[in-house]
Amino acid sequence: MEDIKIRSTLEEDFVEIADLAENCSPMETERNSIYHIFTKFFRSTSFVAELPSGELGGFILGFISQENPEEAYIHLLCVDPKMRGKHVGRKLVERFADEAVLKECKKIYLITKPVNWNSISFYKKLGFLEDKSRETINILGTNAVKNYNGMGQHMVVFYKLIG
Ligand SMILES: CC(C)(COP(=O)(O)OP(=O)(O)OC[C@H]1O[C@@H](n2cnc3c(N)ncnc32)[C@H](O)[C@@H]1OP(=O)(O)O)[C@@H](O)C(=O)NCCC(=O)NCCS
Repeated sequence: MEDIKIRSTLEEDFVEIADLAENCSPMETERNSIYHIFTKFFRSTSFVAELPSGELGGFILGFISQENPEEAYIHLLCVDPKMRGKHVGRKLVERFADEAVLKECKKIYLITKPVNWNSISFYKKLGFLEDKSRETINILGTNAVKNYNGMGQHMVVFYKLIG
């Protein structure tokens, strides 16, 4: 892990990020232009884990809300399947959280699918809590916000207070 460097994205990272994202099911993938927007315009809150070989072992793409600058949002997080279980995901979230604190955010939030057990277990281990302030629906023991992303698209909304 000592040899893995967590660094802000460079604009050109979006190409490799797009390739890596193909191995991150059930995470949703995006058009390349979306990854490019993050690596270019949100690079101070988007990070990659760079392996000694120079390849990317994971990424986190996020931003600070323009409507509420105290809220930071993680849009996508992915660790290469070969690199999972080595605390790469934890390091990426911690680096994002450090930056959010520096930017005076008070809260991080994100959404994930109720079927994404790996990510639900991961975020709970990192101290994230389920948002139950809106109507939730229990899916396989997890509280998902009902119709969060439209009719029938229930999503688990996680948050963590920081700073
Ligand atoms: C979720 C994901 C990012 C975790 O990355 P990772 O590098 O394997 O996780 P880490 O090794 O940093 O684990 C951090 C902690 O979470 C725990 N954890 C991770 N995955 C877990 C799982 N599936 N079940 C239980 N605990 C888990 C680890 O045991 C570890 O605990 P510790 O710090 O006390 O030792 C990775 O599985 C992934 O990329 N999944 C596919 C993409 C995805 O679903 N992204 C999230 C939704 S956008």
